[in-house]
Amino acid sequence: MSETTSPANADATQEARITAALGTRSVVLVGMMGAGKSTIGRRLSSRLGMPFLDADAEIEAAAGMSIPDIFESRGEPDFRDGEARVIARLLDSGPAVLATGGGAFMRKETRDRIRDKAVSIWLKVDADIIMRRVNKRRSDRPLLQTADPEATVGRLISEREPVYRQADLTIWSRDVPHEKIVEECIEALHGLLCRGGATETNDRMGVTP
Ligand code: S3P
Repeated sequence: MSETTSPANADATQEARITAALGTRSVVLVGMMGAGKSTIGRRLSSRLGMPFLDADAEIEAAAGMSIPDIFESRGEPDFRDGEARVIARLLDSGPAVLATGGGAFMRKETRDRIRDKAVSIWLKVDADIIMRRVNKRRSDRPLLQTADPEATVGRLISEREPVYRQADLTIWSRDVPHEKIVEECIEALHGLLCRGGATETNDRMGVTP
């Protein structure tokens, strides 16, 4: 058998090392709407060979209605309670890559659970990219049904970023191919879990972990 390790094998080893180091923990993606949590999460899960879970989709399934309908018929506080319960259940259901809705990490109880049962990645995204991405389907985002959605996004960013910053890792989600962001997530997870420190990726991006 050859002693040489091909780059593909080296990558597989890197991913296997990450899942071994995670053990029973999940990987949780947090950040603003439009950050790409579901898109990146789905690809990351297939790279890591872990199931993918989308908290928003699970909330809709549990409630039997869409998120805009939950906001309209029950109000935001009720949605937030349901969101916390669903995320708690998903975190107990075994290791997975879990994409959370933009407001989920704002609740301390949820942050504490994520810290106990997962490694968190903040997908940091600029306001102009959020606006471009959410403008396509703004009706799906009840929080943006305001007179000035751009101002609303600006306010949410300034309220939320200090909290998102508490995630274990930060990756700058920008307009580059999804695979590049996924690769940076893998490198960052490997750096944190297998080399025991901050990642080159974050340093290079000028993003503070
Ligand atoms: C929300 C983000 C949405 C969804 C709900 C509230 C938020 O999820 O949970 O509309 O508070 O930012 P995405 O971040 O997946 O769009």
